[in-house]
Amino acid sequence: MVGGEGPESYNQNSSYQSKTSLMHLKTSTAKGTGQNPAENIEFQVLFNDFTTNDFNTLFQSLPAGRRYYSAGVPGSFFESVLPKESFHIGVINYAFHFTSKIPKGITDRDSPSWNRDMHCTGFNKAVKKAYLDQYSADAKILLDARADELVPGGLMLLFGSCLRDGVKMSETSKGIVLYAVGASLNDLAQQGVIEQDKVDSFSTPLYFAEENELKQIIEENGRFTIEAFEDIIHAKGEFTLDPKVLAVSCRASFGTFLSQHFGEQVFTKVFDLIEAKLRQELPRRMPNPECST
Ligand SMILES: C[S@@+](CC[C@H](N)C(=O)[O-])C[C@H]1O[C@@H](n2cnc3c(N)ncnc32)[C@H](O)[C@@H]1O
Repeated sequence: MVGGEGPESYNQNSSYQSKTSLMHLKTSTAKGTGQNPAENIEFQVLFNDFTTNDFNTLFQSLPAGRRYYSAGVPGSFFESVLPKESFHIGVINYAFHFTSKIPKGITDRDSPSWNRDMHCTGFNKAVKKAYLDQYSADAKILLDARADELVPGGLMLLFGSCLRDGVKMSETSKGIVLYAVGASLNDLAQQGVIEQDKVDSFSTPLYFAEENELKQIIEENGRFTIEAFEDIIHAKGEFTLDPKVLAVSCRASFGTFLSQHFGEQVFTKVFDLIEAKLRQELPRRMPNPECST
């Protein structure tokens, strides 16, 4: 994610992600007794992300007068990041769709699972299988790690997006945004700004699972029971379809992937094209609804 507080930072462009968890917490409070049994309890909130994350901006954005202690926990969530049985409630917000690496074969032209697109569109069966295999293996490692770190009887909340069964990523608004990034990269290759090979070898370590896939992974792992699996009614409606807003939030979320692979200059050029691509594509493709869980 793009750090700092600037207009293209993740911090300024993640209200969609933050609203998801807020909506769920409000719903939970509304269903509760109205009493606050936790007044005398002291809370410590631990924030995990890669060591490269902009923890400074995160800590600076915490509300003044908050009634909890806080600390950063740097490291990949596919590994152990806390001592065994050391926390009570875990929250993963908009990060359960990351894989630990690009699945095998995806960037290899000679492999049956070579992917011309930069993400798993859902149309190529071999590509979908490669992503799902990687995702399933990673998700199970993550669940094992959290199960070890949680106190017995602890609770995990997973917020984010998944696909309704049978819906392909390319049929969703997020898929159209990823398509627009890929199409902009291809335009730059045709203009000779970047090499086509460089574009063809660019992939993202993301997989938005279908509902049944998610449930199966959690059940097969067996370390957690699913107590609730719910759609969240998003305060902002579903993903906004304003091309300008989408282009900026896409830059905040995918900027790091792109600048790492193509360099800073190309990254800026790509994002100059995306808004126009989205203006063309969005009216032509009606997205299927995604669901937040
Ligand atoms: C879309 S952002 C969500 C950030 C935040 N949870 C929120 O709700 O706004 C996804 C975050 O997951 C982090 N992430 C991805 N893979 C990770 C991993 N293996 N370990 C720790 N953090 C990871 C990314 O660095 C990024 O900050």
